[in-house]
Amino acid sequence: MHILRFADLVTAGRVRGQRVFIRADLNVPLDASGHITEDTRVRASVPCIRMALDAGAAVMVTSHLGRPTEGQFRPEDSLAPVAARLAELLGRAVPLVANWVDGVAVEAGVVVLLENCRVNKGEKKNDETLARKMAALCDIFVHDAFGTAHRAEASTYGIAQYAKVACAGPLLAAEIDAIGKALADPKRPLVAIVAGAKVSTKLTILQSLAAKVDGLVVGGGIANTFLLAAGLPIGKSLAEADLVHEAKAVIEAMRARGAEVPIPQDVVVAKEFNADAPASVKAAADVAADDLILDIGPETAALLAAKLEAAGTIVWNGPVGVFEFDAFAKGTETIARAIAASSAFSIAGGGDTLAAIAKYGIEKDIGYISTGGGAFLEVLEGKTLPAFEILERRARESNPG
Ligand code: 3PG
Repeated sequence: MHILRFADLVTAGRVRGQRVFIRADLNVPLDASGHITEDTRVRASVPCIRMALDAGAAVMVTSHLGRPTEGQFRPEDSLAPVAARLAELLGRAVPLVANWVDGVAVEAGVVVLLENCRVNKGEKKNDETLARKMAALCDIFVHDAFGTAHRAEASTYGIAQYAKVACAGPLLAAEIDAIGKALADPKRPLVAIVAGAKVSTKLTILQSLAAKVDGLVVGGGIANTFLLAAGLPIGKSLAEADLVHEAKAVIEAMRARGAEVPIPQDVVVAKEFNADAPASVKAAADVAADDLILDIGPETAALLAAKLEAAGTIVWNGPVGVFEFDAFAKGTETIARAIAASSAFSIAGGGDTLAAIAKYGIEKDIGYISTGGGAFLEVLEGKTLPAFEILERRARESNPG
């Protein structure tokens, strides 16, 4: 994929004195009193801002926060907590600017944070007038918001269409490089772990990966539907019986390519869904009518761990059991530690996956941790995200042939 990179503009000396507009994804969780509870996205946005400041640009940064109603700013929609955290991380003042669409005063060597861009009328629908106004604020538009790369909104897409120069920031570039390495030209065997509550929400991902990967590990409620497809009992576990034929089709597609979907041989069950429910390990064939499957069993976990340790590339999205409850966390922990121990290039994404990585303290052993939620999933589906489509188009237009 050929896109213009901000780092190359910096190297070429094209940034000094320029007005640089960075679209970041600073959409972080806040608690009831407005404190940031998890700041990965803020930290991940710092290198781009530093790069622009060090290059002598006048820097504007914006992001959405939550899903506010356009035209109706409420105090809880404010990026104020993010401005404070950014100021700490950058070690300099980060003034927050409201009502910025019609003009922003910022000098070279200074950074300002532009208030929640989703409060602007026309943002969501990528309104052309709004996008053109934002484009007019800058000389260089930098898209660095991978978490929002699957949205075509005025501050992520329209502005890239109309800005004099549109390029990818270092975070966006790193994400696409890592995903490209994992999916476009992977070292084999390529093993993907796709887990979650429902097949229906990840069916397109399963179908897309079934054409690419050598091993497709399913977990959570998704695995239950695959157990049904394999003719095994699942008791009263969460599953989607109406999607059994789709699960069978995925298994068949993999088999036809000489690849496999390993079906759990043993599972951890309980009679109730709660942290203190007594857990027991059973062969998958012995699950009783009143059992709930809440994790993979130790034999299955060891088998999968061996596959992961022998893999060339691993893509991980979703914990394989209810890892929030200790009695049902061993499967996910075994998988996490196997990924950490494997010499494979690994890429992980999705909220629950990141929580599991944090729980087992294996951040440093994962090849790349994506900041994308929905964006990461859409890439796994094989979609070209709007951010990359428009940046590629702009690069082609400015450098035809
Ligand atoms: C996310 O949290 O996944 C991104 O910030 C995108 O947010 P959205 O789903 O509200 O567009």
